[in-house]
Amino acid sequence: MQERKKISVNDLVAMKGREKIAVLTAYDYCSGLIADRAGADVLLVGDSAAMVVLGYPSTLYIGMEEMLVFCGAVARGAKRPMIVGDMPFGSYQPSTSMAIENAGRFIKAGCDCVKLEGGMEIADKIRSIVDAGIPVMGHIGLKPQTASLWEGYKLQGRTAESATRLIEDAKALEKAGVFSIVLEMVASEVAEIITKNVSVPTIGIGSGVGCDGQVLVLHDMLGIYENIKPRFVKRYVELSKSIFDAISAYTQDVKASRFPGEQNTFHISPEELDRLRKKERK
Ligand code: KIV
Repeated sequence: MQERKKISVNDLVAMKGREKIAVLTAYDYCSGLIADRAGADVLLVGDSAAMVVLGYPSTLYIGMEEMLVFCGAVARGAKRPMIVGDMPFGSYQPSTSMAIENAGRFIKAGCDCVKLEGGMEIADKIRSIVDAGIPVMGHIGLKPQTASLWEGYKLQGRTAESATRLIEDAKALEKAGVFSIVLEMVASEVAEIITKNVSVPTIGIGSGVGCDGQVLVLHDMLGIYENIKPRFVKRYVELSKSIFDAISAYTQDVKASRFPGEQNTFHISPEELDRLRKKERK
């Protein structure tokens, strides 16, 4: 019988250096259920939902209300994995009290913790959220919420100076009380140095195999989202083709009256049908 105990913050921290951590994004009830059954340790209800579910051009556009709907759905499906709510752009930057209040809304929606993008510049907000009793996952390297406004979607830590800044950011987050740090698009050598220099697990995306765990966007690894194909994604299946084939077959079946078949059809009893016909004749 598989262990069904919920993965806690302490369980996750204890995995560092002992067992790699498998993280995946999820946005709905069914993917939460399936990812739980398939053994994912952590489900991130990422603001990537803005792009892969809602069709916005970047993660900038999603808000709290949309994120909370996705969080509730995932939490109803996934019981064992830790569920991380990704705080959207604008939900924590304006003030510390707003950051704490919105972090609390994620917990009430069913998440176990929250994730915020940023390094030392948001360390004080992270400290306040942690002090309010809410575990926080950090996120440094490429920060999709603001990348389009600044340097663009580029590999981070390519120079000694920018690598030093990332290492300092990671240490500032650790000091602020995060239990884990996402490293997005960080040069693998730098990600390894960060991983060795912090006591909390690092979760890489496009940051090499030296991180304590890995995260992928579900729609990327399932081959559903076709607009962008980052090189760091491994596609485990090409679901968009399967979905296309299924919808095409269904459409043709409906048009040719091949669907619904007898097995999909319900009947009135012959006696009742007889009675009905007699009534209709009157
Ligand atoms: O929103 C998201 O999916 C993320 C991951 C890319 C880490 O933040």
